[in-house]
Amino acid sequence: MIAAYSATSQARVNAALETLFSAPSPELARLYEAMRYSVMNGGKRVRPLLAYAACEALGGKAEQANGAACAVELIHAYSLVHDDLPAMDDDDLRRGQPTTHKKFDEACAILAGDGLQSLAFSALLDPRLSNSDAALTSDHLRLQMVSALALAAGPAGMVGGQAIDLGSVGLKLDQKALEYMHRHKTGALIEVSVKLGALASGRAEKDELKSLQTYAQAIGLAFQVQDDILDVESDTETLGKRQGADIARDKPTYPALLGLDAAKAYALELRDQALHALRPFDAAAEPLRDLARYIVTRRS
Ligand code: IPE
Ligand code: IPE
Ligand code: MG
Ligand code: MG
Ligand code: MG
Repeated sequence: MIAAYSATSQARVNAALETLFSAPSPELARLYEAMRYSVMNGGKRVRPLLAYAACEALGGKAEQANGAACAVELIHAYSLVHDDLPAMDDDDLRRGQPTTHKKFDEACAILAGDGLQSLAFSALLDPRLSNSDAALTSDHLRLQMVSALALAAGPAGMVGGQAIDLGSVGLKLDQKALEYMHRHKTGALIEVSVKLGALASGRAEKDELKSLQTYAQAIGLAFQVQDDILDVESDTETLGKRQGADIARDKPTYPALLGLDAAKAYALELRDQALHALRPFDAAAEPLRDLARYIVTRRS
């Protein structure tokens, strides 16, 4: 089920993303090529899948969430390009290929990341991407979506989490501090992926948004716990990024703090919290349930 749902959703978001990288002039060809390289190089597309699944859980059509799906993936891709830079995690491999600054150069990677961030907001509002429902013509809804994405991506969200991450190298964080960091650097964007998808349905009620937020907060944290686990026990080829990079850089992670077994148990506990939050929803929320299960069992 999840495999078929993923394949369909990945194809949908990839087709939409592919429309965004034609350079407006030859002078910008290299910048656009670097942006395209950073986005169209694979990736599991978990955040777009969550946006589609949340939209469908509320009875919307997946296509209504196309703008949201592209937007969250573009922010994610930008965050990875910058995360891999020498000044940050200094990684040379991403999705099985050279990182953007290795393939191009550092300045180009910084600008490609900057460009992807802006492109995310244009995509969110692009009527060519999500033209299938009148709901998105509501200015109030559009403003809510822009504001939610800005908050999640910015200094009170992902960027803030990255700042804590980089300021914590070599330090021993306690579980509260580690959770705070993970909820920001990874959780915030996952949470807003669900929220934007739900809003794009045009029929999200307050209590539904609340339940979906509880779900998303749990899987957002679980996603980074599993990322930390995979850094310990997967391999470079499967991951498409260097296994052991966190250990080599003495990063604060859940396995480092709790040990591998307790980190795994915690990921499962978070999955159960997420599933519990979906109890009010009917079978239309099955893809969201599957995604919660997938996030803690994935191998890459
Ligand atoms: C990796 O994210 C970075 C984290 C936030 C943990 P993903 O595991 O979603 O990476 P891709 O998009 O599939 O490459
Ligand atoms: C990345 O966390 C989080 C963001 C990019 C915001 P990591 O540094 O753990 O991601 P990977 O392991 O390099 O993919
Ligand atoms: Mg990092
Ligand atoms: Mg990294
Ligand atoms: Mg990691």
